[in-house]
Amino acid sequence: MSRSAHPAGPRHADVLPEGHYAAPPADLNVLDPKVWARSVARGEDGVVAVAGLPVTRLAEEFGTPAYILDEADFRARARAWRTAFGPDADVFYAGKAFLSRAVVRWLAEEGLNLDVCSGGELATALSAGMPADRIAFHGNNKSAAEIERAVRAGVGRIVLDSFQEIVRVAHIAQSLGKRQRVQIRVTVGVEAHTHEFIATAHEDQKFGIPLAGGQAAEAVRRALRLDGIELIGIHSHIGSQIFDMSGFEVAAHRVVGLLKDIRDEHGVELPEIDLGGGLGIAYTSDDDPREPHEIAEALTEIVTRECRGAGLRTPRISVEPGRAIVGPTAFTLYEVGTVKPLDGLRTYVSVDGGMSDNIRTALYDAEYSVALVSRASDAEPMLVRVVGKHCESGDIVVKDAFLPADLAPGDLIAVPATGAYCRSMASNYNHALRPPVVAVEDGEARVIVRRETEEDLLRLDVG
Ligand code: LLP
Repeated sequence: MSRSAHPAGPRHADVLPEGHYAAPPADLNVLDPKVWARSVARGEDGVVAVAGLPVTRLAEEFGTPAYILDEADFRARARAWRTAFGPDADVFYAGKAFLSRAVVRWLAEEGLNLDVCSGGELATALSAGMPADRIAFHGNNKSAAEIERAVRAGVGRIVLDSFQEIVRVAHIAQSLGKRQRVQIRVTVGVEAHTHEFIATAHEDQKFGIPLAGGQAAEAVRRALRLDGIELIGIHSHIGSQIFDMSGFEVAAHRVVGLLKDIRDEHGVELPEIDLGGGLGIAYTSDDDPREPHEIAEALTEIVTRECRGAGLRTPRISVEPGRAIVGPTAFTLYEVGTVKPLDGLRTYVSVDGGMSDNIRTALYDAEYSVALVSRASDAEPMLVRVVGKHCESGDIVVKDAFLPADLAPGDLIAVPATGAYCRSMASNYNHALRPPVVAVEDGEARVIVRRETEEDLLRLDVG
């Protein structure tokens, strides 16, 4: 077994040769609309505002760090997905990206359904009034208590992830005198990435039942035999931050192949197919995501074509975008605490948050952008690494970016595209207090998830 250094150490400290970095943007004051929420703009006084509210005012009122979420943008993106797929398909927002009761209400109002993957997410959805039949319940190891709660609530579907779960859900539903609608999640042998898809080692992961070796077909056989469940479709989710539709194409081809086998063996045409989520967003100006209508057209075309080829009626399609809806709608607002130039290397800018509010850089080597938002500056660009305040050298928020050279403690900087998987993966590392989520709309700001307090921390510590 090899011994390697902790990746958060040497790897992040690597010094890249001169000329490696992209050239700084021509004007650091310009905000690229690709990565910023739609109502973000720099005012004439140089201060960035969201929906008309200057970030300086937001910082004063709500403190930093804080996630600032553009409600109109969230609603617009949710609506764009809904409209793109139309009445004959369903859009399930993936709550794992970010979930709160306000978000659940916006989704309900905009006509979206909701994918939850834990008892906690289910409780949030139900407590905010999402109709249970618009909820899909996911997870590779749902507890019996979670399943019972979901069945009792009447969730629209439970996505089955293993042979044991087929029996478990059927048994629980039957003992409650119910017949639960279910889908079976299959692994199609495609793992999609941003610019390529790899057809190896993909089945060596914990989710779903492989199509390979007839395992998914056997799962279907068993599910169709049980009274407590009604099998309504097949589910496939191929990955995250995907820009290339070819992975979906292969996945749809293989899922439709299974639907055809099911029809041939059982004389049943399953009415639904779920292609999961995973559609990419722009974290930096280099990313070029597709619009929901392009994705909807491509997916519908792929499934329709595959079904026609197989002599099947086209099933109802559903998708589960999380990041693509909420990701671009929020940014994290930080105050600069220290600015430390390391001669010949780069300048380390420490902010008042870090890996506790954005673990994605440390965990996935994710790329982010950053901008000075409390004022404009004509100073020269300087190469920076934005780091947090945690006791860990891998506590990096933005690996490489340019900020104006006159950056100073007390300035506010913001990292865009942090709406997805930042608050939802936030931690209390070093007993950090998780930041609030502030929703801004039409000149009004309100806290939808409040900042944690020391009392919150101490309440859990029962001595
Ligand atoms: N549906 C299923 C079954 C999923 O497993 C996921 C994500 C989604 C939908 C939503 O995927 P999205 O459209 O948001 O990419 N923490 C990672 C992402 C993990 C995604 C897990 N499943 C990150 O920060 O990139």
